[in-house]
Amino acid sequence: MRAPGARADLSRDTLALSAGLVIDPSTKAIAPNISMSVNNLLEPGNGAFSADGVDDLTALPFLYARWTNPTVRQLEKRLAALEGADDAVATATGVAAIGATFLSFLKKGDHLILSDVCYAGANELARRILPDYGIEVTPVNMARPQDVAAAFRPNTKLVHCESPCNPILRLTDLGAIAALARKHGALMSVDSTLATPVATQPLLLGVDLVIHSLTKFINGHGDALGGVVCGRKELVEKIRSRAGVYLGASMPAMNAWLILRGIDTLFPRIRTISESASKIAAFLQDHPSVVAVTYPGLASHPQHELAKRQMDVFGGIVTFQVKDPGRMAQQLAGRLKIAHYAFSLGHQRSIVVLLETDEMMKSTYQLTGEQLEDYCRFAGDGVFRLSVGLEATDDLIDDLDQAISE
Ligand SMILES: Cc1ncc(COP(=O)(O)O)c(C=O)c1O
Repeated sequence: MRAPGARADLSRDTLALSAGLVIDPSTKAIAPNISMSVNNLLEPGNGAFSADGVDDLTALPFLYARWTNPTVRQLEKRLAALEGADDAVATATGVAAIGATFLSFLKKGDHLILSDVCYAGANELARRILPDYGIEVTPVNMARPQDVAAAFRPNTKLVHCESPCNPILRLTDLGAIAALARKHGALMSVDSTLATPVATQPLLLGVDLVIHSLTKFINGHGDALGGVVCGRKELVEKIRSRAGVYLGASMPAMNAWLILRGIDTLFPRIRTISESASKIAAFLQDHPSVVAVTYPGLASHPQHELAKRQMDVFGGIVTFQVKDPGRMAQQLAGRLKIAHYAFSLGHQRSIVVLLETDEMMKSTYQLTGEQLEDYCRFAGDGVFRLSVGLEATDDLIDDLDQAISE
């Protein structure tokens, strides 16, 4: 699969700079235009007056910006090219992309198999809201394909997961779970925000839909919200024409422009961040204040072999545990000079925050039994989620060292 206009002979490093880019026909500007117009002129001969009306919401003429807009369309084509998808639909936020996917492929009486640990917003949307609309949801540990296989029902329509998952960095064998979904006639979506297209191309492994919060690594500068779903043309069209048009969670042109600029540097940025994250994970592993470190690139990660198979780089998120997480959270917030103590991830500056296990269970995951035990194997009493930025690795290590040491 290849996005319309994406050249087959170019590497994705190059496509990150060029796919979807439109040279302005009147000024010849080579940076994308920000088209702030809500609507565009309808003229005889440009398709607006055809007998069938408009059946492709992305083709010229751009009718109305809630459906798509010329700057947003450039972003959609670029992301489709990077994921090897037919097409992509951009949304106002990552949560909107997840919500749009759920509401496009699940209806009353359907069943969703959901990763028992995934981004809190997705988990809460699925477990708290979807049942109100008659949709059944089964949370499953996606690292156990046998549990996923056992969860299918005749009405299972969608399997949704993350790899690595936020916040505990557990991986999903995407090829194995996609094969199960296919066998049972269900679609599979993966939120690939933590992997980015630099690490993993889920569509090549058989996944149907790839979702990103563009707010994170893909924009990479912490200054624009956005989301995307990439996949086969008919699936993306369904999301755009149903959830996009009727839920109205469309991406503003300014955000598309900022995110396009972020993507220009995506490949070198993620490679640099991943290299730095690997060194920081190794440093933390040897630090006396640290009890455990989780990073897909460490040999100690329980799924390191899968990580090597499925990820070209190991990404920018490292988690670590300490003996007294509450006290350490205050110590970090007070002492860090370079990294910021704050929520979110995937920005150019490093960010760290504590996600306490009790709190995560109460507010979101509500796991019990084996699922809780598995969460605790990765997270203990709580994980510090460190999102590594582009600062010099040695400076970051010095900053973390002075902040976490007794
Ligand atoms: C993995 C993942 N998916 C989705 C989201 C939601 O993204 P947004 O804040 O853009 O709605 C987040 C936010 O933290 C996330 O980490």
